[in-house]
Amino acid sequence: MPDASVAKGLFLVFEGGEGSGKSTQAERLQQRLAEKRHRAVLVREPGTTTLGLYLREYLKSKRPLILESELLLFMAARAQLVAEEISPTLDKGITVIADRYAGSTVAYQGYGRGVGREVINYLNDYVTSGLYPDATFLLDADPSEGLERVGTPQLRMALMPDETSGPGRDDDAERRRFEDQSMPFHQRVRRGYLELAKSTAGWHTLDARLAIEELEEQIWRVVAPLLPVSSPAQASVDSPALFSAKE
Ligand code: TYD
Repeated sequence: MPDASVAKGLFLVFEGGEGSGKSTQAERLQQRLAEKRHRAVLVREPGTTTLGLYLREYLKSKRPLILESELLLFMAARAQLVAEEISPTLDKGITVIADRYAGSTVAYQGYGRGVGREVINYLNDYVTSGLYPDATFLLDADPSEGLERVGTPQLRMALMPDETSGPGRDDDAERRRFEDQSMPFHQRVRRGYLELAKSTAGWHTLDARLAIEELEEQIWRVVAPLLPVSSPAQASVDSPALFSAKE
């Protein structure tokens, strides 16, 4: 049972398309909070829990997966993450920073793949028990720029002239369910994110092309006023486990 005398931790989420730099900003924010002696746990979707990591492997691969299964596997990973990590951590008064959350499904499976919004909203509410972030940062960029960072299929071919060999080839070739989608898919994902950000309280759209330091400042300007003046979560920095970035 959560301790009612402890104020809930802050729940902060980073969203964005491929190569938008959100993971870098999530880590920088965790670091900055640590410097202010404020505990924050970093989680990632899909990932972090044993089930999440297991599903991540399959979801990112190009092994067979029909749309309905894809949707439900992301939801299963989210259900486990909320129950195992996010809720218990927030209940202890500790901040959680999530690299992707419910908005990713709206953008990717909703706008990207065409799943109805009411299905996604229903499942998101169900698996999260209605737990939504205090603030969400959308790192917005033209998909062509983000994909350049992670490498388009054509670019990867050019860098890897011998398709039959090469270190890491299997990994690269098989773990690209989303990155290798067509440009219109990534444009729909972007549009979905922008519409979601406009219509949802607590979303902040940032220009992902800005310098890393400038983005960090913009994010900090939103987060700093949300921090409690003093809380038990700030008192001790002795527990390294609470600071470890989880895969
Ligand atoms: P990841 O390597 O974590 O991508 P990124 O570093 O850009 O976050 O891979 C996660 C992929 O899964 C990413 O392409 C987005 C996709 N995804 C969905 O399609 N739906 C979801 O609900 C989530 C959480 C992720």
